[in-house]
Amino acid sequence: MTFKAGIFDSGVGGLTVAKSIYQAKLFDEIIYFGDTARVPYGSKNESTIIRYSLESLEFLKNFDINFLITACNSVSSCALPELRKEANFSVVGVIDAGIYAVTKQAKKDDTILVIGTKATINSNLYKKGLEAKGYKNIISIATPLFVPIVEEEAYSPSLIKETFKLYFDKLNPEEIDIVVLGCTHFPLLSSYLQKYFKNAKLIHSGEAIVELLKKEYNLKEKQNSKIHFLASENPAHLKKVAQKWF
Ligand code: DGL
Repeated sequence: MTFKAGIFDSGVGGLTVAKSIYQAKLFDEIIYFGDTARVPYGSKNESTIIRYSLESLEFLKNFDINFLITACNSVSSCALPELRKEANFSVVGVIDAGIYAVTKQAKKDDTILVIGTKATINSNLYKKGLEAKGYKNIISIATPLFVPIVEEEAYSPSLIKETFKLYFDKLNPEEIDIVVLGCTHFPLLSSYLQKYFKNAKLIHSGEAIVELLKKEYNLKEKQNSKIHFLASENPAHLKKVAQKWF
């Protein structure tokens, strides 16, 4: 059987997850779709995120996919039940992979900072999931402005410094042991975050999802894997980011 996966995100962020999956050759073919015409998702309300997600699924079904990965925490935090109802194949989100990655790297008394979009942070799924695994010191902060910085590739040090100040002013960065990048756009800001949270390990779900897919869905390495990049607006930009990131 040919395994053809759809991977989707609101924009370029999901490329951080697609890269790990592509390199692991878990699928014969991958169709990556960034809904760049409607990014950001994470500041929209739940019913809008669910509607956009179902529309993205309908679009991807045109390519005869038989597996779906929502490489977007905002979608994974609120639309998985609806997507699973509409798909007659497996639908996998990224939040479980993120939590799994923390359990591999963090000690129970570590101070864990979870950053993500408003939708992800308000869903409390990371906090509840980590508490269920015995972690107690969890700080959750929504950092939605990081998304347009990544989409626009606006990596201006002064802009980044100001946004860090806005979101992290009340924290002592040296006391943070783990930073969970609870938005797939954020690994593209890793170097800035690592400089700021000097003592912290940065965790992103892209690294853990391959292990999770192999373990839970018994996916094996294929001989070859192809990937195609699609976007609802400005696909050339998405392809450019993909080239750089891959
Ligand atoms: N990359 C997405 C996430 O993981 C969404 C960012 C957004 O569209 O707000 O949440």
